[in-house]
Amino acid sequence: MIVGIPKETFPGEQRVALVPAAIPILAKAGCEVVVEAGAGAAAGYPDTAYIEKRATIVSARAEVFRAANAVFQVLCHGANDKTGRADLPLLRPDQALIGFLRPLASPATVQEIAATGAVAFAVELMPRITRAQSMDALSSMSTVAGYKAVLLAAVTVPRMFPMLMTAAGTITPARVLVVGAGVAGLQAIATARRLGAVVSAYDVRAAAKEQVQSLGGRFVELPLDTADAEDAGGYARAQDEAFYRRQRELLGRVVAESDVVITTAVVPGKKSPVLITADMVAGMTAGSVIVDLAAERGGNCELTHPNETVVEHGVTIIGSFNLASTAPYHASQMYSRNITTFFVHLLREGKLRLDLEDEITRETLVTRGGEVVHPRVRELLSLAPAATAAAGSA
Ligand SMILES: NC(=O)c1ccc[n+]([C@@H]2O[C@H](COP(=O)([O-])OP(=O)(O)OC[C@H]3O[C@@H](n4cnc5c(N)ncnc54)[C@H](O)[C@@H]3O)[C@@H](O)[C@H]2O)c1
Repeated sequence: MIVGIPKETFPGEQRVALVPAAIPILAKAGCEVVVEAGAGAAAGYPDTAYIEKRATIVSARAEVFRAANAVFQVLCHGANDKTGRADLPLLRPDQALIGFLRPLASPATVQEIAATGAVAFAVELMPRITRAQSMDALSSMSTVAGYKAVLLAAVTVPRMFPMLMTAAGTITPARVLVVGAGVAGLQAIATARRLGAVVSAYDVRAAAKEQVQSLGGRFVELPLDTADAEDAGGYARAQDEAFYRRQRELLGRVVAESDVVITTAVVPGKKSPVLITADMVAGMTAGSVIVDLAAERGGNCELTHPNETVVEHGVTIIGSFNLASTAPYHASQMYSRNITTFFVHLLREGKLRLDLEDEITRETLVTRGGEVVHPRVRELLSLAPAATAAAGSA
């Protein structure tokens, strides 16, 4: 089994799908690794580090795809909507492809991958079960993004985060509000607390309250009916517009009192709810900062510009996409561990075995045998449910 690691091609992407430290784990499972020259350079992993772990470096991208039985990428076609398409002709029947594919937001690209005959796995569909925690790339990237969001806010806001008592007077701590206390939000709370800010947070899921408090944050209580806010997978359910209107009204005061607002509220497969309106931004103190981590999915702030930083009513609104790529060394290390664990899970005696009884395999597998096989993706494409494919080798 040969695992191929092409260089990421999305403009500005710095991560790499596999770091040298993961190669011995794959070797133990019977895999050899072929890496495109320079693939890890931007993340801090030079070719020599891969060679030391006995990987083969090749200069031509097409050669990586030609040699590999399984290709690991961070942003595959779909998640890479700029240059990902160029890899389609390099894929071949029964070749495994593992990475972010954005299957629910861009199902048509999944169909294009299916047409190549490749066996594709979308890591964002990893089930939120204890057994799959070590394979959960979405959580890893959210962790990095939550951390980075706070650092961006801290260098942008014209104040310091900690309370300081100095001979020149007392500096009051920055007030940070985190909306959406999932993986990214919790990491943002922890990071802002470490910098000394006073942190408040809100989430529609009741379970988030205790987690916010355990990190030293204040949970903002809003009198909203959130009894059905969480689905069986632990994700938020979409609410109706009346709910979001009420939420905005109730959040208004807390937003106005905050120096920094970090929003992470997303609902899988849906556009992000608008929770901060233009009026709410106008009500904030000039110099305040909003980091909208939901920007890629439409944004939680009405004035967010996708992948841009803008100043509106004196408030800086940061809508950067892909913050995980800005800490590429550790983001790659985490991603690499996640997909290596996942891939080894898929192997039986050195071969890819698709056990569709296994929730992890079934939930992440999106294409096989020239077809889109994932029920939710098929539904989005208005395709009839697939006949249950028999488990077996790819
Ligand atoms: N393997 C596992 O067991 C596992 C792995 C990862 C995450 N999880 C859990 O899954 C849950 C969601 O994780 P996530 O970070 O990927 O979620 P996510 O990225 O889908 O959403 C981020 C947060 O936004 C919140 N949100 C949505 N709409 C909102 C609104 N209108 N107002 C305020 N908040 C809103 C969600 O509840 C969520 O907490 C968490 O409970 C997390 O602990 C479990």
